[in-house]
Amino acid sequence: MNLILLGAPGAGKGTQAEVISEALNIPQISTGNILREAVKNGTEYGLKAKEAMDSGALVSDEIVIGILKDRIACDDCKDGFILDGFPRTVPQAEALDAMGVTIDKVVEIFVPDETIKQRVSGRRVCGGCGATYHVEFKPSKVEGKCDKCGADTIIRKDDQPETVLERLDVYHKQTAPLKEYYSKQGKLETVIGQDEVAETSKLTLKAVGA
Ligand code: AP5
Repeated sequence: MNLILLGAPGAGKGTQAEVISEALNIPQISTGNILREAVKNGTEYGLKAKEAMDSGALVSDEIVIGILKDRIACDDCKDGFILDGFPRTVPQAEALDAMGVTIDKVVEIFVPDETIKQRVSGRRVCGGCGATYHVEFKPSKVEGKCDKCGADTIIRKDDQPETVLERLDVYHKQTAPLKEYYSKQGKLETVIGQDEVAETSKLTLKAVGA
């Protein structure tokens, strides 16, 4: 099954993608995580992406489409995958169609902007594997350490309050039109993000039939 998770920054896409990935045993492909890794490693496209990411803007379609194409060609994607953070513009969705990729379902995690601002301020991410935590809603077992790989958890640079506002604005202008794009194809299902991660997970798993 090929799935897309749609939602504003901080709505919980990454958290839900992890849950579905475990339940369906298909990989979670987060373009944000791939880009952060590239920035950390100082690769050519990492250097190009850094400025846009730090300011809350989108990285160019050309770079992100290239990354995605390479990633879904990997062996572990042959039985399906979950796209977390891609597509983010209509041209990215069209590129996916042009690659001949069939998308089975698009799940939008909807959370109001005000809630997002609170959530993002408490987010911590693993500097090693990219797993996501929240100091209040989803704390790691040992404070400051990732449950999965033991690396230190950090605050993302683009989680500063002003950058979050910019990312929300970018989402509403450039990514939200994808709801209509996929709704017209009869593939969009909206899950209302709940205050408890576990409650949202139940709804998401139901939406994908897991
Ligand atoms: P990316 O990493 O994709 O960031 P994003 O879309 O802004 O999404 P986030 O990772 O911030 O949030 P999320 O929805 O995954 O929420 P999470 O589960 O962490 O992209 C970063 C940047 O890369 C972009 O700004 C752009 O520059 C670039 N980029 C990436 N893809 C691109 C593309 N396709 N095209 C162009 N540029 C691209 O949850 C948030 C917090 O809330 C966590 O702390 C979590 O624990 C907590 N939480 C989650 N669910 C709940 C709940 N139900 N109750 C309480 N707390 C919750």
